[in-house]
Amino acid sequence: MSDRAYLSLDKLTLGYGKTLAVRDLDLDIRKGELLALLGPSGCGKTTTMRAIAGLMRPVSGHIRLDGADITRLAANRRQVGLMFQSYALFPHLTVFENVAFGLRLKGMAGAALDDRVARGLASVGLSDFSSRKVPELSGGQQQRVALARSMVMEPKVLLLDEPLSNLDARLRLDMRTELQRVQKQTGVTMIFVTHDQVEALALADRIVVMKNGAIEQIGTPEEIYNRPVSRFVADFVGFETVFALNAGRLVTSTGEMPFPDAPADAAGLAWRPKGVELGTGPMRGIVKGVSFAGGTREYVLETPLGPVKAEADASLTAHALGDEIAFDLPISAAAPLQRFA
Ligand SMILES: Nc1ncnc2c1ncn2[C@@H]1O[C@H](COP(=O)(O)OP(=O)(O)OP(=O)(O)O)[C@@H](O)[C@H]1O
Ligand SMILES: [Mg+2]
Repeated sequence: MSDRAYLSLDKLTLGYGKTLAVRDLDLDIRKGELLALLGPSGCGKTTTMRAIAGLMRPVSGHIRLDGADITRLAANRRQVGLMFQSYALFPHLTVFENVAFGLRLKGMAGAALDDRVARGLASVGLSDFSSRKVPELSGGQQQRVALARSMVMEPKVLLLDEPLSNLDARLRLDMRTELQRVQKQTGVTMIFVTHDQVEALALADRIVVMKNGAIEQIGTPEEIYNRPVSRFVADFVGFETVFALNAGRLVTSTGEMPFPDAPADAAGLAWRPKGVELGTGPMRGIVKGVSFAGGTREYVLETPLGPVKAEADASLTAHALGDEIAFDLPISAAAPLQRFA
């Protein structure tokens, strides 16, 4: 465990019966960090959360939190908060009582309880709603109650498993900002699970990209967005045109093509649609698809290399289906991949 780690997963292997869901996971999380776990359905995000919360026993490996090995510690003694997508508030209780619930279980009462709940509600902007019943709140307000309920327990780590996925697009955006604000204000260490890369990029200090029960890449949002290490991560963050490299040659659907500027150690090269230059360059493609996306138009080109996805400013004259257009794959816009998988 490194000196800076507050929560540390060490060779953590997790499974259900004989099926392994997470293999040999190593992860160090700093105190006060907002970490996003990003990955497709079934990659092991919820399973990892469950293990940190103490809801499942690891097959092997260790979990350390704030200097103590908590691998075998009961869930209720871990000081780990967990907020799921279905945040299950008690509908018959008031906002105050929902937030006070866990504190009462711990024996807190009187002025201390009132004070803690009041601070919790204030932190999510719901001070005026403490006597409301849950069904009298909007979806976003309910989400805030659930967040306050987790925060008042003053967990060492707060785990949020897709907490925004029940909300409509607009509310999701508001809550995302709210979550970030509460996290920065309180300094609580937070792990946030999502399969939405935009959400992860917007929220996190660092992102962990998972694939098939293992970590594919860990990095800051900028690193993940600009320097994906593998084809999988590149694809996840929007590099839609991807080719393997073989000894400096681009591996295309019709054979290998010399690509002299390619970095010698790269296993592949990837371009975003906006990185592909249209209307100029040595390559030719036929327009197979055009879609209007507001400020831009997106093109799918059929080319001797394979399909290429490109983007052009929507103010430019649109190319029609069947048009042949010149294009270039500039090395300056390419992400070199360390692994082509
Ligand atoms: N209770 C269970 N019993 C058996 N297998 C399970 C159980 N829960 C999850 N799994 C399996 O473990 C793997 C990881 O599941 P997990 O729920 O951690 O995925 P996830 O990354 O959270 O996916 P999602 O984005 O869909 O929530 C999957 O292959 C899943 O089928
Ligand atoms: Mg899940």
